[in-house]
Amino acid sequence: MELLRTVAALRAYSDAARSEGRRVALVPTMGALHAGHLSLVAEARRRADRVVVSIFVNPTQFAPHEDLASYPRDLEGDLAQCRAAGVDAVFAPAPAELYPAGAQTWVEVPELALPLCGQSRPHFFRGVATVVTKLLVAARPHVAVFGEKDFQQLQVIRRLARDLLLDVEIVGVAIAREADGLARSSRNVYLDAPMRAEALALSRALDAAAAAVAGGERTGSAVLEAARKELRAAPHADVDYAELRDPETLAAIDRVAGPVLLALAVRFPAPRAASGVVRLIDNRVLRPTPSPEVSR
Ligand code: PAJ
Repeated sequence: MELLRTVAALRAYSDAARSEGRRVALVPTMGALHAGHLSLVAEARRRADRVVVSIFVNPTQFAPHEDLASYPRDLEGDLAQCRAAGVDAVFAPAPAELYPAGAQTWVEVPELALPLCGQSRPHFFRGVATVVTKLLVAARPHVAVFGEKDFQQLQVIRRLARDLLLDVEIVGVAIAREADGLARSSRNVYLDAPMRAEALALSRALDAAAAAVAGGERTGSAVLEAARKELRAAPHADVDYAELRDPETLAAIDRVAGPVLLALAVRFPAPRAASGVVRLIDNRVLRPTPSPEVSR
C-alpha cells in the first residue's frame, strides 16, 4: 500500500493507474476509521481496480467552537486498517496541500445546505463541498464512494458533481450499524456507557417511524411523533432536529406518499468530548408499501 502525502504524488498515482486502463475509486474520510468506513472501501473494491482512501481532517468544515482540535486522529491505526482491507493507496496530506496559502475559492450548494445540519452548522457544507471538489479534482477517480449515514452530505456531493460537470460516478453506501443498532461514527468514542445506551434512541426512533409507516400511517406529524416518542424516552437527548424531507431535494414533507427521508440529529452530554457534548446523526428513507389495490 502506498502512502501519498502530496497532491502531486496523488495525481501521479492516479494518472499511472488510468494510463494502465485501471478504474480508480476514491473513498474520502477524516480518519479514525471504523467498520462504516470499511464498508465504503469494500464497495469501492467491487467497483474499481485501484482503491484510494483519503484521510484528512478538513478544517473548513468545523466552526471555531466545534471539535477540530480534539477530533479523533490515529493515522497509524488507520493505515493498518486500510492495509488489512486491501486499500491500494492512502492520501494523507497536510492542510497546506489542499489549501494553498491565500486560498479563497469555495464551492457552495446553498439550497441543499440550508436545512437539517445546515441550520446548526451554517459553514459545514461549504467546507465539505470545497474539500470534496478538491479531492475529486486531484484524485481524478472514476468513482467516489460516500455513506448514506451523512445523507445530506451525499446529496450535496451528488449535486456539486453534476453542477461542476465532474466526470465521476458518486456512489452511496447503506449505514453500517453496531449490533444493537447504533450507527457507527468516529464520534461514538466520546460516549460513556450511560450515554451510549441512551444513544440507541436514534435507531429506535427510526424503527418506530418505519413501523408507523408500515402500519399505514401517512400523516407526517404522526410519523414524526412516533419517532419523537422514542427520543423523549432518553432523558439526556437534546433533539437538534427530527424532520421528514424529500430524499432528493430535501424539501419539507408533511405526507408520506412516496419515499421520505427521516433525518435526526441529537446532542448528548459527553464528558470525554472537549466541548462536553456529542451530536449524533442518523436517518432512514421510509418507503410506504403500496396498498394491494394500488399494486394490482
Ligand atoms: P467521515 O465522517 O470520516 O466519513 C467518511 C465517509 O464515511 C462519509 O462518506 C460517511 O458518510 C461515511 N460513513 C461514516 N459513518 C458511516 C456509517 N456508519 N455507515 C456508512 N458510511 C459511513 O464525512 C466525512 O468524513 C467528511 O465530511 C468528508 C466527506 C471526508 C469531507 O471532509
